[in-house]
Amino acid sequence: MLNHPATSFPKDKIKVLLLENIHANATDLFQAEGFQVENVKGALSEKELIERIANVHLLGIRSKTHVPDAVIAAGKHLLSVGCFCIGTNQVEIAAANRRGVPVFNAPFSNTRSVAEMIIAEIIFLSRQLADRSKEVHEGVWKKVANHCFEVRGKTLGIVGYGHIGNQVGVLAESLGMRVIAFDIASKLAIGNTRTAGSLTELLENSDFVTLHVPETPGTKNMIGAAQIAKMRDGAYLLNASRGTVVEIDALSAALKSGKLGGAAVDVYPEEPSGNDGKFVSKLQGLPNVILTPHVGGSTEEAQANIGKEVAGSLIRFMNEGATPSAVNFPRVDVPVVAGSHRILNVHQNVPGVLKDINKIVSDLNANIRGQVLSTDNDIGYLVMDLDQNVSGSVRDAIEGLKTSIRTRILF
Ligand code: NAI
Repeated sequence: MLNHPATSFPKDKIKVLLLENIHANATDLFQAEGFQVENVKGALSEKELIERIANVHLLGIRSKTHVPDAVIAAGKHLLSVGCFCIGTNQVEIAAANRRGVPVFNAPFSNTRSVAEMIIAEIIFLSRQLADRSKEVHEGVWKKVANHCFEVRGKTLGIVGYGHIGNQVGVLAESLGMRVIAFDIASKLAIGNTRTAGSLTELLENSDFVTLHVPETPGTKNMIGAAQIAKMRDGAYLLNASRGTVVEIDALSAALKSGKLGGAAVDVYPEEPSGNDGKFVSKLQGLPNVILTPHVGGSTEEAQANIGKEVAGSLIRFMNEGATPSAVNFPRVDVPVVAGSHRILNVHQNVPGVLKDINKIVSDLNANIRGQVLSTDNDIGYLVMDLDQNVSGSVRDAIEGLKTSIRTRILF
């Protein structure tokens, strides 16, 4: 449990609604705080959600529940939405922002899972293990050493040296690989990793190239025929980032011609929406090509991490007003100082709001110990610490300003 003063709103009155079988450790964390938790196994329709949201303070969903503006509007007491997954497309996050509701997710909970899969695939590609396994399953005994290599001493090129790229580098070095990395942002290279000056330099000097960039206009088709031509003959390409990053036609041609020695692909330009969807790709049936159904981050550990990370973010928001990892909200993270009293206010981002709020506070003769304001295009988020306890009437006065969206007295 976090060390913070008693909250003005009794914790046992805080209602959490968790949908879609969210990992049990989230329930444990909320209950340890004293919150009331209700779990629902599946997703709810918009109509069902609207019926149930009125008394809910925190809503937890995974990828199958849609939270449009109508649901957020119906959530009269809704303070925050937690997406217990990576994506947040299922929530109308701009509408949540305008209504003063921060949305949290867990973008880095499966970092290690992806990194470990990449390491496994590097060895599988280097030894053609996926093909050998398939042959033996089919009753074919084909013992070969030709074009099978150890990975020790080989060079791994990491494109996108962020959370996953970093971990892949650390693990690859422990196997005795040389690691070079290219990133558009300036990054501190970990261990013995060297940074490449350009994507071309990385492609020309790597035996394996693994992609760990986000989906952006700048990464769309960043690996096509021209880039593959720069790679070493017989090199391997791994993509567990996003399907739009690699041109599948170019990759397929390079595998067929033997320019590349193999590939491991986990993500595709078009992916089926569910497990019963049919999947067709030009990469199917090609030699030494590992195809997986977007499972890079799919492990039990990642699910558990997601439960902890998102529940932790929601609890910190409830207890301290902290929004450091919100996806749609001005970010504020102010340590709690003993003896101070905290007010949170979300307001329209227009001139003069701070003046109006400060006037209400100064009329009280209260001293402002700390005040942090963070804004985005539409809203401002103010966290204010006072040296004296304020009554509900102050909250009502601030809430009564026509610019106010939401106001909460924390403690
Ligand atoms: P991150 O945000 O920590 O790192 C991405 C890095 O790419 C950043 O350092 C950024 O500066 C760099 N970058 C952006 N544009 C670039 C460019 N044009 N050239 C070179 N570098 C560029 O992201 P994280 O967590 O490491 O994830 C990386 C990718 O992995 C994302 O696309 C994510 O969606 C994907 N992913 C896939 C999973 C799977 O199941 N296969 C699971 C988790 C993440």
